[in-house]
Amino acid sequence: MLNFSYQNPTRIVFGAGQIAQLSQLIPAGARVLLTYGGGSIHHNGVYQQVTSALKQHLVVEFGGIEPNPSYETLSKAVALVQQEKLDFILAVGGGSVVDGSKYIAAAALLELDGWAILQNKVRVRQALPLGCVLTLPATGSESNPHAVITKKATQEKLSFSHPSVYPQFAVLDPTVTYSLPAKQIANGAVDAFVHVMEQYMTYPVNAAVQDAFAESLLRILIDVGPKALAQPENYDVRANLMWSATMALNGLIGVGVPQDWATHALGHQITALYGLDHAQTLAVVLPALLQHQREAKKQKLLQFAENVWGLKHQDPERQIDEAITHTRLFFERMGVPTRLTDYGLPASAATELAAKVRAAGMQQLGEHGQIDYAASEAIFRAAV
Ligand code: NZQ
Ligand code: ZN
Repeated sequence: MLNFSYQNPTRIVFGAGQIAQLSQLIPAGARVLLTYGGGSIHHNGVYQQVTSALKQHLVVEFGGIEPNPSYETLSKAVALVQQEKLDFILAVGGGSVVDGSKYIAAAALLELDGWAILQNKVRVRQALPLGCVLTLPATGSESNPHAVITKKATQEKLSFSHPSVYPQFAVLDPTVTYSLPAKQIANGAVDAFVHVMEQYMTYPVNAAVQDAFAESLLRILIDVGPKALAQPENYDVRANLMWSATMALNGLIGVGVPQDWATHALGHQITALYGLDHAQTLAVVLPALLQHQREAKKQKLLQFAENVWGLKHQDPERQIDEAITHTRLFFERMGVPTRLTDYGLPASAATELAAKVRAAGMQQLGEHGQIDYAASEAIFRAAV
């Protein structure tokens, strides 16, 4: 196991009816910016629960944060925070609203324009405190220090991470996920699955705890994902999906182990160029990437085949092939297609995507830094 230092400061408040706790979780006297997305919270009772919990607080609202939150929209919220001297951000929504709110929290305290954070031109030093009410189990953003922001003007999708943007708390009420369209449940389960894979599917370092936690999360997602589609109001299914998505990317399973993240890096280029949902890009890239990297990842692929999919073939190559096929079929069973052409993109998309990877200077992806431009192009071609 590699050395590590781990602290996750986010308080998780889990269960039905827990939005009411907001009145206690946000300091009295805070000047709150309430951020949300395109309006789903107005139709499922979440907005009403949040505002009634915050009756005693000063609250200014900012709605309209879009999926793949944009710098352009978020800049307006940054100006609002500065103008109204707000000092606490409450994000109510999915990963996009939480990520966007992390950006607002950090950019509001900068002298410079916030995009400099994404360009690595300025280091975040502090951020306004934020908390969240999560409405879509998927990204893990509710208890991690990461945010992914898109600049529409330049078709760039970039990320930043800083400990100051860990939410102070995350309210996870599984009942608020009942209103999610099937597509978003499917996206969420696939995203969480790939988060686990990015931290697990590398090479062994004798990290028994991390491996066993990761394998159990994968098995749970394979079990509850289809059930969440079939039984939208099954509380236990939604609760297990929600908690596994948080656990998939709250840092715990990633301590002391090598990590990959090439699937995400390549996937972000697909969203930036063609607007596919985040999880759709992952379902396209991961199977192709596993095939391409099957030698480098051989030992973990064999472990994954046996411990996650229960495969027991003598021939290791067959074992690996079937594990990759099972993974692809899981995504397809969730209703998330796994080929670029399934989304109406032409075969030439692979060339355009490879050029975008080159332009972004992403030439050493993966746990060994061995996914170079040529490898990325080969992966995109295999994903057509
Ligand atoms: O905007 P509203 O109207 O709220 O509708 C949203 C949105 O259209 C809807 N929705 C959310 N909760 C709902 C609901 N509809 C009905 N009922 C509910 N309870 O779902 C749609 C998608 O929401 P979004 O927040 O975009 O989805 P998700 O949570 O999958 O977030 C995706 C974003 O997170 C980033 C992705 O790149 C993408 O930008 N990621 C963030 C990560 C992180 N911070 O650690 C890691 C991930 O790998 C990922 O990159
Ligand atoms: Zn993701």
